[in-house]
Amino acid sequence: MKFFLDTANLDEIKEGISWGCVDGLTTNPTLISKEMKGDGDFKSLVGEILRIVPGPVSLEVTSTEHEGMIQEAKKLKKLGENVVIKIPTTIEGLKALKELKKMNIDTNATLVFSVNQALMVAKAGATYVSPFVGRLDDISEDGMSLIEDIKTVYDNYSIETKIIVASIRHPVHVRDAALIGADIATMPFDVMKKLINHPKTDEGLKRFLEDWEKIDKKKLRF
Ligand code: E4P
Repeated sequence: MKFFLDTANLDEIKEGISWGCVDGLTTNPTLISKEMKGDGDFKSLVGEILRIVPGPVSLEVTSTEHEGMIQEAKKLKKLGENVVIKIPTTIEGLKALKELKKMNIDTNATLVFSVNQALMVAKAGATYVSPFVGRLDDISEDGMSLIEDIKTVYDNYSIETKIIVASIRHPVHVRDAALIGADIATMPFDVMKKLINHPKTDEGLKRFLEDWEKIDKKKLRF
């Protein structure tokens, strides 16, 4: 399973990439807006992100009708080869997905909350589908069962649209997504950081280092 970071924060992106675990990135208007509070402008922020991320980077359109989405997509695509256009899952979004497929522009259908939406965006030509598990959990639904269902349906019909498990809130979401066989998990930096932690690792390392200190250092020359 590929790991994407779900952030527009350059420090988080650089740190995650240094771990060798970042295959791509997703953003949304909320995440971009958080990083635009200082002096920086959109073009230089996104330009830097596209330069350092070793894989696809999803940038979301904000138009609500398909002509506007396509115009935005064309402009965003000029910013870098690895740009993927994030399109909202609406009727207008379907029209844009269909047109962008014809233009060979990769797309990510976002805000997906049902199997039928996942089927529709795949038929319209989406490269990626982003079902939001955390936001379903928030309203007492089982987000991960949606991933299971989409995976089953896509496998039933050999659909090539890749499943990005989105709105991930904790490490169990990542583990469950991997067990189901989702293609990608996109997660906040804090969740990625938690994946490597284990108290038994810390305890074991502490004991190894304490025992090492007991050896007469003269005996350790080599
Ligand atoms: C995915 O592409 C979205 O940017 C993201 O996962 C949304 O997560 P949230 O529900 O935590 O805002």
